[in-house]
Amino acid sequence: MGWQIDTDMHWTDHYVEHGFCVIRQAVPRAFCEEAIAALQKELRTDLPPSGWNSDTIDDDLLAQARDPDKQSPELHATLSRIYEEPNYRGLVDTMFGEHNGWGGKPHAHTFISLKDMAAGDREPSVSPWGHLDFVNVHIPMFGDGFTSQVSLVKSEPFSGNITIYPGLHKVVQKLLLDDRDFRFLAQGHPDWHAVVPQVEPYEFVADPGDVLFFHHLVGHAGNGNMCASGAPRVAIHAHVYGQLWPNGVDPDEPGLSPWLRSHAHNGKFELAYNDREMTMGSKAVRAERNAAAK
Ligand SMILES: [Fe+2]
Repeated sequence: MGWQIDTDMHWTDHYVEHGFCVIRQAVPRAFCEEAIAALQKELRTDLPPSGWNSDTIDDDLLAQARDPDKQSPELHATLSRIYEEPNYRGLVDTMFGEHNGWGGKPHAHTFISLKDMAAGDREPSVSPWGHLDFVNVHIPMFGDGFTSQVSLVKSEPFSGNITIYPGLHKVVQKLLLDDRDFRFLAQGHPDWHAVVPQVEPYEFVADPGDVLFFHHLVGHAGNGNMCASGAPRVAIHAHVYGQLWPNGVDPDEPGLSPWLRSHAHNGKFELAYNDREMTMGSKAVRAERNAAAK
């Protein structure tokens, strides 16, 4: 059955408490259909998504559609319109509150999980551990935003949906407050298992237009497509960067936005270092290291 959403909670409170939320039917069908049409063009197929699998979709074209730096300008333009879609933008505005807002930098690509027809039927499962996106670099305490997914299709359990590991945003923040040099290496690494509890994952099984928001410090994972029907997972994966990158938080400050409240579980603090500069500096060092290794 898996971890279930507490539907008695407002989505903002759910995000604060669990590090993620789901808003059903938030994006109109017309937008989803437009995005699917753009994807069909990118993938050079006339098939509806229900017919997409490893036999019918070209690997290279799929890789291109998944990569924000390689997708065609046409697909980029269509996916980037998510930030202008009024209902979605309203949710973003609510998350950031009146003193913050979307920073104007689109970063949207696709999250497509097709059934591997050569793999045969596999025992349906999801990843037992989630990951952070900051691998062997400084992990930003705050960052300037969060991540979203907009489902473009009806997905099924085990059809390659993203999974979220609820509540880990609180644990990881505490970890970073105690040791700002903690490094995340891999979701299967024993160092990671030693510092975070294993929690039951939530699987984002969705209808077209359903939206998921998740915290940058909550564990999450992609999954293989193992559903019997072969239905694919097709979503827009959009990072939402705000205008502000805070360096401290006070839970007692009146009128905190939901986004800031999600960073205020471990009491009042002000960092002794510049979180933004540390993050950018660490990323630059990693890029140099990777370039030197090539
Ligand atoms: Fe990730």
